[in-house]
Amino acid sequence: MVTRVATVAFQGIEAVPVDVQVQIAPGMPKFLLVGLPDKAVKESSERVHAALYASGLSLPPKRITVNLAPADLPKEGSHYDLPIALGLMAAIGAIPSDSLEGYVALGELGLDGRLAPTAGVLPAAIAALSRDMGIICAEPSGPEAAWAGNDLEIIAPQNLLALVNHLGGYQLCARPQTRRRPDPGALPDLADVRGQEVARRALEVAAAGGHNLLMIGPPGAGKSMLAARLPSILPPLNPRELLDVSMIQSIAGELADGALSDRRPFRAPHHSASMAALVGGGLRVRPGEASLAHNGVLFLDELPEFQPSVLDSLRQPLESGETVIARANAHVTFPARFQLVAAMNPCKCGLAGTPGHTCKRGDRCAADYQGRVSGPFLDRIDLRIDVPAVSAADMIGPATAEPSASVAERVEKARERQRERYIEAGQPDVFTNAAAGPSLIEKLVNPDKESQTLLLQAAERFNLSARAYHRVLKVARTLADLAGAEKVARPHLAEALSYRLNLAPA
Ligand SMILES: Nc1ncnc2c1ncn2[C@@H]1O[C@H](COP(=O)(O)OP(=O)(O)O)[C@@H](O)[C@H]1O
Ligand SMILES: [Mg+2]
Repeated sequence: MVTRVATVAFQGIEAVPVDVQVQIAPGMPKFLLVGLPDKAVKESSERVHAALYASGLSLPPKRITVNLAPADLPKEGSHYDLPIALGLMAAIGAIPSDSLEGYVALGELGLDGRLAPTAGVLPAAIAALSRDMGIICAEPSGPEAAWAGNDLEIIAPQNLLALVNHLGGYQLCARPQTRRRPDPGALPDLADVRGQEVARRALEVAAAGGHNLLMIGPPGAGKSMLAARLPSILPPLNPRELLDVSMIQSIAGELADGALSDRRPFRAPHHSASMAALVGGGLRVRPGEASLAHNGVLFLDELPEFQPSVLDSLRQPLESGETVIARANAHVTFPARFQLVAAMNPCKCGLAGTPGHTCKRGDRCAADYQGRVSGPFLDRIDLRIDVPAVSAADMIGPATAEPSASVAERVEKARERQRERYIEAGQPDVFTNAAAGPSLIEKLVNPDKESQTLLLQAAERFNLSARAYHRVLKVARTLADLAGAEKVARPHLAEALSYRLNLAPA
């Protein structure tokens, strides 16, 4: 006889159904695990044996075969322990075999029979609900599973024994409740930044429309400081975005205690980051920083210090909003619609362009340094601004800068306008101007005669690519939204064009 337990394998953030089939047959005592298991899955047989023994169960000295179907789908991770153990328990009659019908099981086992949390419970719970099934997972994963919906049946026991008791009806496990991550306290505030009016304006525009931003200026001008204050003016995640962001965090194993937070992600990887760390991949496919920044901000400080090839690997997600990782046997896709914010010095010594300063290596200093960032990469950045050093007068004078809260209000209003517009245009999945497609933005902006002349002149002078042209239109639309204007007019386009600062030719 074969017993079956339903579980899942992860492909990107999708949980695909996997069937654990267990057969105990007469023959030489042996334990076989087949169905493309990786090392962690292979080792599960040791944990399962120990956990069953600790729970007072022992396996018969027979030939035991465990098959993970479909056999051609690679199985990675430690969450197969629980379904394998349950299949064995049903096969030896420790639990009624029909009690597992209608459940998806995933979890790691300790040697003492305790259930440990694993990555990916949220997507698994959502997949279970869509298949009209319940879920069995470790107790700490329960609150995460509960986010899938109130209709989902959840069994989240501490250990195997508690699960046996629950399935037998002796002692029931309570249904876990959803949990929110406690507010980690106040974010750094824009009120601390003195002067820098242009940079503050650009930061507000970037926040309002979800645009990419590059700040160039000498060391100590406040670039890192400004970027760190972007989260304080961004609106919280809406429920749809929250679920997408949390699914990625769940797969990456970064949902602490199964608690969700509606704060927008802000990821700031160090410039020594590898391509796998940034776009995902590695031995076990894991979402990278670009995906963990989905619906939030990816901040790259000291941009030219990143490996040029690593930066260029971001070009695809910047355009398509997802990363595609090619493996030997499959392609894995993760969502990665992030807002890029970058900061850099103008040259290696950091002071090129500062009045009175000459680099030791002359013009080559700035050209070589800026040349490390490729043209196609720069082309994808809508707002490129100069951040000059703050003047002494600004630093010494009284601090009268506007606080983040009032900027955040304007940003929220502008986002509200965008949301309404895209729902009206039949694109409810588009929340910001930056995320709108090229044909849609052309239709929505529809420049008048006066603006067309300006665009034509600029396109010739700055050598605007088609992509740059659409990005200018998007920024102009955001500027109009911030001003509460129905139509995009010439001043909006002129300001949008002024943010396309050209770097030194490489
Ligand atoms: N505009 C500013 N207003 C107030 N303090 C500033 C400003 N610019 C820089 N500072 C101070 O200088 C420090 C260094 O700034 P930082 O953002 O690291 O510069 P950068 O990244 O441009 O090299 C900040 O932590 C802050 O104390
Ligand atoms: Mg800095």
